[in-house]
Amino acid sequence: MRLTRVPGLLFGGDYNPEQWPEEVWAEDVRLMAEAGVTMATVAVFSWSRLEPAPGVYDFGWLDRVLDLLHEHGVSADLATATATPPPWLVRAHPEAMPVDAHGVRLEFGSRQGYCPSSPVFREHTVRLATAIATRYAEHPALAMWHVGNEYADHTLECFCPESARHFRAWLQARYGTVGALNTAWGTSCWGQHYTGFEQIEPPRKAPGPVNPAQLLDWRRFCSDALLELFTAERDALREVTPAVPVTTNFMSILHGLDYWSWAAAEDLVSDDAYPDPADPESHVAVALSYDLMRSLKQRPWLLLESAPSAVSWREVNVPKPPGMMRLHSLQAVAHGADGVMFFQWRQAKYGPEKFHSALLPHGGTTTRGWQDTLRLGADLQRLAEVAGTTTRAEVALVLGWDSWWGLEAPESMPSNRLKLKDLLLAWYAPLHARGIAVDLAPPDRDLSAYRVVIVPNLYLCTAEQAKALASVTGELVVGPFSGVVDESDQVHDGGAPGPLRELLGLAIDEFWPLADGVTQRVRDAGGDVGLARTWAEWPRVVGDAVEVLARYEGGDLDGLPAITRNGNATYLSCLLDDLTPVLDRVLHDVPALDVPLGVEATRRENHLFLLNHTSTPQQVALPQPGRDLLSETDLRGVITLAARDAVVLRIEGDT
Ligand code: GLA
Ligand code: GLA
Repeated sequence: MRLTRVPGLLFGGDYNPEQWPEEVWAEDVRLMAEAGVTMATVAVFSWSRLEPAPGVYDFGWLDRVLDLLHEHGVSADLATATATPPPWLVRAHPEAMPVDAHGVRLEFGSRQGYCPSSPVFREHTVRLATAIATRYAEHPALAMWHVGNEYADHTLECFCPESARHFRAWLQARYGTVGALNTAWGTSCWGQHYTGFEQIEPPRKAPGPVNPAQLLDWRRFCSDALLELFTAERDALREVTPAVPVTTNFMSILHGLDYWSWAAAEDLVSDDAYPDPADPESHVAVALSYDLMRSLKQRPWLLLESAPSAVSWREVNVPKPPGMMRLHSLQAVAHGADGVMFFQWRQAKYGPEKFHSALLPHGGTTTRGWQDTLRLGADLQRLAEVAGTTTRAEVALVLGWDSWWGLEAPESMPSNRLKLKDLLLAWYAPLHARGIAVDLAPPDRDLSAYRVVIVPNLYLCTAEQAKALASVTGELVVGPFSGVVDESDQVHDGGAPGPLRELLGLAIDEFWPLADGVTQRVRDAGGDVGLARTWAEWPRVVGDAVEVLARYEGGDLDGLPAITRNGNATYLSCLLDDLTPVLDRVLHDVPALDVPLGVEATRRENHLFLLNHTSTPQQVALPQPGRDLLSETDLRGVITLAARDAVVLRIEGDT
């Protein structure tokens, strides 16, 4: 299935022509055509130029931009331009600007200056989206809609009175009565019993720790409130152009927004990813986020923004060395992207992003950057046949936002060292190193199709989620501090692992977080299994058939079970520095690929991507002969992959 009506893999980037005199536009489109650019994201921040006064539109310049793009074979990912409200709107309605947790209203002068719950802002975004859709419904350049931009990048939450009203309505819909809310929020603790919804406020800065159940609902509400903002615009667009796909660019694995519900609301998933070139392992973490993007709709997705070289928002913005931009782009395709786009087309002359790299650098067409742009454009054309293909994964990693929000609540946990992204990555990295495809899955999905299901952590686990995990027919692996609380952040009766008790055959008598720097040995009959750091537990076996695979040795937990197995369910009561022994036990039926460290192997149907992320040549034994689409040569046996080079092998007769 194609993402848009544009054939092949998409290539292009954010294009901000309003930052340049019109004379420059002709050069832009000429160079886009030269580089093989097929799509440009346009008008993301153009509201103040498109609607200079309330209801007064100036579409002339955008007409000319879209015409020029179309004449040069470039389609438009056309934005609804609502990522920054114009000054006239903010001055007429200062209440539409967001308020922080200290009650300070933020000022105009940046972007995303809006309260997600502001009815005035919503009304104006819908009006503008409708006007743009009506204007360009029949324009031949229009390929897809880009709503807002990176929701929650700057503005995730607002604590103003309007947000408070909206939060109360959301709570009323969830709980019906204030009595039910009192029960769910456990307001008998610290004397917080409410007698009416009107007494409830967003969790502004309070004298001490805020009720964690209130915070959990606030996180849910904030994700939903922004989603409402998105869906209001989406509906307006669908009214006018029902056949044009609608997306908004995600921000990889983002704490603030529940992307399972967001992805369900859009037509195609798109992502912005900025792996740090200074981090030699960043390609692993980004692969995990790409696999999430592919899993969100179980379909190809689009890398809508990435950096050709350096960004401009880190403390130190390290550029991408030669070959990395191409390699990272091919990596996104390897993980299911049907296009690679960048921020941005032409490097800015002014503004906060003037030092951010671009496909066309300040120095123009004589630069190394431009050569990279040309090379990538040509390579993506060679890979056109990959578009639309999917990936079959036998292993699933479970990720749920409710549980993540609960786990990382501030100020009330046994340890603040448990970070869900780290926990996911600890499992993902060794799978990735073996060339094993991994899906991400929400905790309530039917997981019976997977041979191995890994739950790095499920702090918040409902009875239904426990049921879904119990229906796993392959291997199930559950990490520590799971099944602790219900959907209201209340500890399950009898303590952890709550609804997972029968499945795991265990009770956790006490959590045993390890102080920074402290380790705890874990051994099995064969010797050392590894070292636990950060987290351990005091487990007690309650099932008849539980096998203890490894025990703690030495220290306070000496002799207690560290890793157990009950039927198909393995439980780890600690964070191990090496998960290989556990993976070796459960991956028996999952085919792996033997590749050197730092070489990534990923499949999309009958295409095998081999990516050398190291800065030295690597020898790779091909599992099968095939044709490398990049070099257009037939390969077999052992090949040498140059530093930061890649092969995309079409394997015949094997899908
Ligand atoms: C103090 C407070 C108690 C409780 C404990 C927790 O003693 O008075 O209400 O918060 O700390 O350690
Ligand atoms: C995000 C935003 C862009 C730009 C880039 C810079 O992707 O969507 O507007 O700010 O970051 O890296």
